[in-house]
Amino acid sequence: MKLVNVVGARPQFIKIGPILRAIDAHNEKGEARIDEVLIHTGQHYDAGLSKIFFEQLQIKEPDYNLGVGSGTQAEQTGEMLKRIEAVLLDEKPDWVMVYGDTNTTLAGALAAAKLHIPIAHVEAGLRSFNKLMPEEINRILTDHMSELLFCPTQPAVENLANEGITSGVHQVGDVMYDSVLHYSAIAEGQSSILEDLGLSNKNYALATVHRAENTDDASRLRRILSALDRIAMEGLEVILPIHPRTRNRMSELELVLTHARVIEPVSYLDMLLLQKNAHAILTDSGGIQKEAFFFRVPCVTLRDETEWVETVESGWNTLVGADVETICRATEQRATGGGDASFYGEGHAAEEMINHLSDSMALITSN
Ligand code: UD1
Repeated sequence: MKLVNVVGARPQFIKIGPILRAIDAHNEKGEARIDEVLIHTGQHYDAGLSKIFFEQLQIKEPDYNLGVGSGTQAEQTGEMLKRIEAVLLDEKPDWVMVYGDTNTTLAGALAAAKLHIPIAHVEAGLRSFNKLMPEEINRILTDHMSELLFCPTQPAVENLANEGITSGVHQVGDVMYDSVLHYSAIAEGQSSILEDLGLSNKNYALATVHRAENTDDASRLRRILSALDRIAMEGLEVILPIHPRTRNRMSELELVLTHARVIEPVSYLDMLLLQKNAHAILTDSGGIQKEAFFFRVPCVTLRDETEWVETVESGWNTLVGADVETICRATEQRATGGGDASFYGEGHAAEEMINHLSDSMALITSN
């Protein structure tokens, strides 16, 4: 069986790590072999958003780097679609696996669907119910093209059922949890980020802002940054590893932070330690809302809705949008919830997905 994996953006590099390890483990068992081909679309190309993740997560060099780079939604997605199709025509895989909800995800799925290659979607069924987000369009379309839908949570399974998708759906847990379990101890041994930044346990807030809905809306971005500055001014150090998209917008709009501390994007291992030791986390990232929950650090989400509803329902995550007062109040309150919920599985999501994939392949061959 030949499987093509398509990744391209930072959160997808974190998800592919455990999948490649699970494929190796599967092949070592001597069962029907999975030959894996890795495509990097090049959606993220800065070393700090791409290369460092491959190194730290010990991911093999991609077999293809399509070098697509940045552009408008259509330019980027269209360019990927063309280049992925060319690889699929050459490689003729039995399955294509796509991850999450980025433009890379949609392009990979669409290229495969048009060539009648079955698709497995990792992180299926997530919904924000906000179609203004490019990610929401990407998720819905990808789910409706997929044969195997790997859901991290029960609400994700229900979302699919509400859209009439019940076949090929498996709740497997969250592959990002697999990653956190595997790499946390490694981070403790290898990362010196806290000393490098002069931070100690729980004496700072960690912030990230990169979503188009926040960066492209000048008023939202201005309000979020001013909340970060106010929190820092009132005495809690705020560390903001900055996404290039946010840096570019801040410079276009001439926005500067005077109290919160902006640093370069950090590696995966550094980010794990920064999250684990934070007093609170403020973010508009989906992955970081979950990671905050894995570490049981109170999370303040700079959005009006979330796909990760269980983090809110369990009390660990507060949705605050972009209102200065609400952001500051929620950070001060640091809402915490119960300790033992395991909405995201037990850390075997990758292994389960590869087992399902292998079973589905056996079924197709025997028919
Ligand atoms: C993308 C995903 C988003 C995901 C995020 C993770 C889409 C629609 N969005 O958003 O869901 O949460 O990745 O980080 O796919 N840039 C650089 N260097 C890079 C990459 C980007 O400078 O290596 C800058 C460029 O100015 C670019 C901008 O960041 O135009 C946005 O990059 P893009 O890949 O379009 O989206 P992200 O905001 O990274």
